[in-house]
Amino acid sequence: MSRTVTLATLRRMKAEQAPIVALTAYDYSFARQVDAAGVDVVLVGDSLGMVMQGHASTVPVTLADMVYHTRCVARGLERAYLMVDLPFLSDTDDRAALESAARLMKEGGADMVKVEAHAAQAPVVEALSRAGVPVCAHFGLRPQRVGQLGGYRVQGRDEAGAQQVLDDAQALEAAGADVLLVECLSAAVAARVREQTHRPLIGIGAGADCDGQILVLQDMLGITPGQPPRFSHDFLADTGRIQTALEAYVEAVRTRQFPQLQHTFE
Ligand code: KIV
Repeated sequence: MSRTVTLATLRRMKAEQAPIVALTAYDYSFARQVDAAGVDVVLVGDSLGMVMQGHASTVPVTLADMVYHTRCVARGLERAYLMVDLPFLSDTDDRAALESAARLMKEGGADMVKVEAHAAQAPVVEALSRAGVPVCAHFGLRPQRVGQLGGYRVQGRDEAGAQQVLDDAQALEAAGADVLLVECLSAAVAARVREQTHRPLIGIGAGADCDGQILVLQDMLGITPGQPPRFSHDFLADTGRIQTALEAYVEAVRTRQFPQLQHTFE
């Protein structure tokens, strides 16, 4: 199905410095509401492992889960561009990544796949791009690596860490990533990534100096169990209706009212 927002739209928005609004969704009903609110990019994130399935991390999510939720969301979208996560260990080499992407695009209806990657995985991004798959490279905090990281922490805190993030950004862009997504970086490091790259840069917990913002739907509705992430905001508490909360989020990102300093890491 052809939707109104395309990769060309996202590139144009970056060129015109028009903030890109992104949000996750995992089912048909919410996809319709998120789409109607004017969100530009809908992500079927593997965060569904936590917010839909009740797991402690994204690690248990399977490719079959992702295909199922992508199909549900795709039926609800008329406007937004549909980005979908390659789940943990579905992209360990070129062949696995291509087979996984084929399922998400052909069976699910994804427009773009998102790969959690650092510079060493640039060849996988290159293989996908060479095969004609639009790719978003997700770096900074990579939640699929939580086992190795030992928790969800801000990345690139010291100069060596910041340099590693910048090296990742350049390697992934050179490999053909069409969109970059950074998670849990100081605003200053995210701003350096934006200065040193040319692709639309979407941030989550990465400050205001990105080309767009993304949140997990349940976080911005204030229904994630436990402590909400510091970088999120409960738009439902402000508005009292789901559709109005979604519209308020879109408006806040478009007018650069979100994120504020209290949502930002230094
Ligand atoms: O899975 C997800 O929801 C994500 C966002 C946190 C960007 O990757």
